Amino acid sequence: MASPLPDRAATRILFAHVAYRLSEAMAARGTGLASHEVRTLEDLKAAMPSADVLVVSGLWRNELLDLAPRLRYVQSIGAGTDQFPKDSFRARRIRLASAQGVNEVAVAEHAIALILALARQLHLARDHQARRHWRGMIGDRAIREDEIGGKTLVIVGLGRIGNRLARLARAFGMRVIGVRRDPALGACAADEVVGQADLSTVLARADVLALTCPLTPETQGLIDAAALAALRPGAVLVNVARGRVVDEPALIAALRSGRLDAAALDCVWEEPMPPDSPLWSFPQVLITPHTAGETRRYEENVLDILLDNLDRLWSGRTDLRNAVV
Ligand code: GLV
Repeated sequence: MASPLPDRAATRILFAHVAYRLSEAMAARGTGLASHEVRTLEDLKAAMPSADVLVVSGLWRNELLDLAPRLRYVQSIGAGTDQFPKDSFRARRIRLASAQGVNEVAVAEHAIALILALARQLHLARDHQARRHWRGMIGDRAIREDEIGGKTLVIVGLGRIGNRLARLARAFGMRVIGVRRDPALGACAADEVVGQADLSTVLARADVLALTCPLTPETQGLIDAAALAALRPGAVLVNVARGRVVDEPALIAALRSGRLDAAALDCVWEEPMPPDSPLWSFPQVLITPHTAGETRRYEENVLDILLDNLDRLWSGRTDLRNAVV
């Protein structure tokens, strides 16, 4: 099959990310490929007309499509691809690949770090430190630091990240129940698995509910008021998936009422989180600014997928690694 791209020497690759040094990492590999890097939406718009390949995540806007007559392949910098209009890509014969796997280690480690931080109350310790306050020991056992060994973790989304988290959690002695779209795929690293339809039955056993699923029509709003009410008293929520998997007003209500003990959120409905969001002011909420996937290896991990896919496209192959469209 003919390649959708111009030949190697003529293909123009555009990197668009606010922080990552993708162009620099590519140059260090000595590929000889022509690339350009932008860091703002304005510069991205200006560069779109000459791009054959776009490597992007959060800077993507649907209006960019009409500025890009040459565009044939979009490589997502993120594992999630919920922001891209897949039908429009199909209609315009633009291929899309996710970066699934690039942040598997980082997100799983971040999730276990958040689970440990909530149990050991590191967020509260840091708040005390900021006030130079040496907190006394806690008599009330219901609010004292706790252990995660022996506790039950329910993980929604048993893909690469969820499985890795399951392995880490089991190493800490947790019992792990996975919830996945197709339970016939098995429990993998978890102790048990159920389908999404059985979510409510396992929530009643959860000391920790961790979300590692993609945002899809089936997962949007999955953790609603009823799901939060089904959790064990004293349960905590860890979200390293997407903010919209959780009904945010219901989450805020559950935190206010004490129905949910604490939450660690790497993602929220609106990012950056607006200054007036009530989530900022709960001491029992630990926020990280969508950084679960960050790692110093990020650029190299994305380039591995990008260069593999470029070689496939140049040789006329249609089976992209991590193909989405
Ligand atoms: C991060 O959220 C990603 O999708 O990789």
